[in-house]
This record gives sequence, structure tokens and C-alpha cells, in this order.
Amino acid sequence: MKDMTLNSRWVLVTGASSGLGKEMACQLARQYKSNLILVARRTDKLDALKAELEKEAGVCCHVIAADLSSPVDVDRVYEEAIAVGDVYGVILNAGVTHFGRHVELDWAAFQGLLATNVTSVIRLMSLFSPYLIRKKQGGGIMVISSMASLLPVPYQAAYAGSKAFVTNFSQSMRQEVRDENLSITVFAPGGIDTEMTRGSKLKYFENTMFLQDVQSCASDAITAMKTRRSLYVPGALNRLQLLFSRLVPRNMVASIAQTAYRKALDV
Ligand SMILES: NC(=O)c1ccc[n+]([C@@H]2O[C@H](COP(=O)([O-])OP(=O)(O)OC[C@H]3O[C@@H](n4cnc5c(N)ncnc54)[C@H](OP(=O)(O)O)[C@@H]3O)[C@@H](O)[C@H]2O)c1
Repeated sequence: MKDMTLNSRWVLVTGASSGLGKEMACQLARQYKSNLILVARRTDKLDALKAELEKEAGVCCHVIAADLSSPVDVDRVYEEAIAVGDVYGVILNAGVTHFGRHVELDWAAFQGLLATNVTSVIRLMSLFSPYLIRKKQGGGIMVISSMASLLPVPYQAAYAGSKAFVTNFSQSMRQEVRDENLSITVFAPGGIDTEMTRGSKLKYFENTMFLQDVQSCASDAITAMKTRRSLYVPGALNRLQLLFSRLVPRNMVASIAQTAYRKALDV
């Protein structure tokens, strides 16, 4: 398949109110003049982003306030999005984590994590895939997963499990639709300097080479989607860590990760 042409197309971005989602939205608007459907719970932030991008980049933005842990809201996002314009790109980026021992994660919070990181992603892929295939425009879906989907990560157990689900699901589904003019990309970053890490004790890694800056991460993500990569891990250090992890026993990987996280999280 040819690369995606994002210019002047409608692209939906979930989790556009902060971090990686917001930065991808900014780069799509400024560099590609993509029109955007911005999804998250914090509408004040989405409205401010819409005003900024429409003024500065001259694109059209549509805000959808939705709690993606709610199945009703997830279905509404799809219905509202396809009524806005011809959706060409879908970036499923919204996500939450829990840092710390799994047994300390409240059950309701675990269910919320699963609903946001897994169920909403699979539901939106199940709705948008047939839609994009019917459109025959060569569109694409990108799922923002994590390196945690490829490794055991003590003290982020539920998160690592949820991301492993979406990585495996997306790569499997990519193969199912590959002859139907639709690409599915999994983007799997290591640590990024965003609210997710800043709000946690992983601040420990701030200003180290273990946290990628959000601008370069967003740019890598857009390139991965545009060039229809199957699975892309940004950053040479991340890719080196992944290579190393494949050469040693998995228990050793879990043990090394545990040591690093223990120091960072003070658990
Ligand atoms: N930061 C990292 O180190 C890192 C590493 C690897 C992968 N990732 C992945 O990158 C993606 C973006 O995370 P980030 O680092 O940019 O974190 P972030 O700054 O905390 O952004 C998370 C985004 O998800 C949205 N969101 C969370 N729960 C939601 C819900 N129930 N309904 C709707 N939107 C919801 C938030 O919006 P509202 O709060 O306004 O709803 C926010 O826009 C996530 O999938 C994350 O797992 C992050």
C-alpha cells in the first residue's frame, strides 16, 4: 500500500487533551493541515486546543467529550465522528496506568483501566475498520500501545497486560485486513515525559535518557502511521533494550525491570 496522505484529511485522536495525543494533534494540524476530531473527558482543554489550531493552522476541529471507560460514550464517539466528515485516520491513544503493586489497585479502578485501554480500543477498531474499508480511501488506524506490551513490567502489571492485549489484537487484525486497503499500526513507546509520568514517582526518570520528549515521540508516531508500519518502537535506546530483552531469559528481564521500578517508585 502507498503511504497515507494526511493532508486536509479528517483524523480522529483520542486522548487529545494532554501529552502524546495533544502533541500528535498539533503536529497533524500544523504540518499536514489535517482536520481533527478531538476526543477526551476534559472539554476545557479540547476547546482551547480547537481554538488554537483553527486559528493558527487554519484547519477544522470537532470536539467530542467522552469518557472512554463508558461503552455508551465509545459508541457515541463513532456515530458522532462519522457524521462530522470522511474519517481517514484513527489514532487510539487515550490510556491510563497504575504504578505500584497490583494488589493495591482498587478493583473498580482496574475495571476502568481495562475498559479504557482495551475495550474502548477494540470496540472503536471493530467499528472503524469496516467503515474505513467501505470508504476505499486507503485509510489507517494507529493504536498507541507501549513497550510494556512486549515485556513483563512489575508494578505496572495491569497496564502491561492491557497493552499486551491491544498489541497482539492489532497485529493479528492488521493481517486480516491487509488486502482491504486498510493499515493498522501499533506504536509502542518506552517512557515519555507527559502527565502520565509527571504525575507519578516515575518523575525519577525525568531529564534522563529513559524518558523521550513528547515532540519527537509524536513525530515518530505520525511517521509510523503514515508509512503504515506494523509495529514501531521509537528511540534507539528503547530498541536496544528490547533486543537485549529477547536475548536473555524473561525472568531476568522481569527482575531487571523490578529493580529499576523499585528505585523509581520507592516500593
Ligand atoms: N507516558 C508514557 O511514559 C507512556 C509510555 C508508553 C505508552 N504511553 C501511552 O501513550 C498514550 C498517551 O498517554 P500520555 O503519556 O500522553 O498520558 P496523558 O498525558 O496522561 O494523556 C492521557 C490521555 O488519555 C485521556 N484519557 C484517559 N482516560 C480517559 C477516559 N476514560 N476517557 C477519555 N479519555 C481518557 C486523557 O484525557 P482526559 O483526562 O481529558 O479524559 C488524556 O488526554 C497512552 O495510551 C499511554 O498508555 C505512555
